[in-house]
Amino acid sequence: MGTLDGRVAIVTGAGRGIGREHALLFAREGAAVVVNDLGGANDGTGEDAGPAQQVVDEIVAAGGRAVANTDNVASWDGAEGLVDQAVREFGRLDVLVNNAGILRDAFIAGMTESQWDAVIAVHLKGHAATLHHAAAYWKAQTKAGATVNASVINTASASGTFMPNAGQGNYGAAKAGIAALTLVAADELERYGVRVNAIAPIARTRLTLATPGMGALFAEEVPEGEFDAFSPANISPLVARLADANCKITGKVFAVQGGAISELAGWHDVTTIESDGPWTVADLADRLG
Ligand SMILES: NC(=O)c1ccc[n+]([C@@H]2O[C@H](COP(=O)([O-])OP(=O)(O)OC[C@H]3O[C@@H](n4cnc5c(N)ncnc54)[C@H](O)[C@@H]3O)[C@@H](O)[C@H]2O)c1
Repeated sequence: MGTLDGRVAIVTGAGRGIGREHALLFAREGAAVVVNDLGGANDGTGEDAGPAQQVVDEIVAAGGRAVANTDNVASWDGAEGLVDQAVREFGRLDVLVNNAGILRDAFIAGMTESQWDAVIAVHLKGHAATLHHAAAYWKAQTKAGATVNASVINTASASGTFMPNAGQGNYGAAKAGIAALTLVAADELERYGVRVNAIAPIARTRLTLATPGMGALFAEEVPEGEFDAFSPANISPLVARLADANCKITGKVFAVQGGAISELAGWHDVTTIESDGPWTVADLADRLG
């Protein structure tokens, strides 16, 4: 008996890194998995059907159920094809894990339009597009009288939530947008039986190994038999729990790395100044600084 028996899940960017671990664990827990991956380079250039198919082969060889999908999640039509494939192949959709990602780091003063657009497209639009098509499917199911018990798990980042990272203006803005989209979606989709949460993971993958200043730390060898705190496999149990039909959690963002899981809190008042009438600029200079 797996915790995800009978569930049908899409995992985007599941050909490598953290998404691959999600797909493998989901299949071991009994889910049928649509393994999406465009198969490009770190910066999103290129395409390769190999990574998605290799993960599918691994799942099927272990006795699980999976199909490959190489649609680009940054495309509205690609995201529609992905949701359609899950329903066509496995008859339903219960879980959407938005995970696909790329990096094109640059300081803001030197950032090109394509560096900005590509990162916003894959991360923020790549979450919104799949979320839209999955939400439309679940809304239609609800309107047709079905009882939906679905879950969406988005992927934010420390960069964009609690740890702003110089050189990642595009990525941090996209990830902050994903955290905000998660809260709005949790509020909107509750009426259709859909829970929506996000994670901010930290793990050793090709993205972090290539990040200046971080790669060396992630590349350090872990002695045989010791807990590998940077293994991408550490991230997936939380995602599987959030995907479980028995889980009630919604509208949350969790940081997760190694054996630590922290619930994050977003923007909130820290101080308030008040005036009995309209502010003057001089008053504000005096009171606010
Ligand atoms: N590794 C970390 O420490 C870390 C930290 C914070 C956030 N994240 C986030 O976790 C997610 C997974 O990253 P990872 O570290 O496993 O990187 P990764 O490069 O190993 O995996 C990302 C996968 O997404 C795929 N992909 C990229 N663009 C795509 C597109 N348009 N359509 C479909 N697939 C696409 C890639 O081909 C790749 O296989 C990303 O959203 C990343 O921003 C990772």
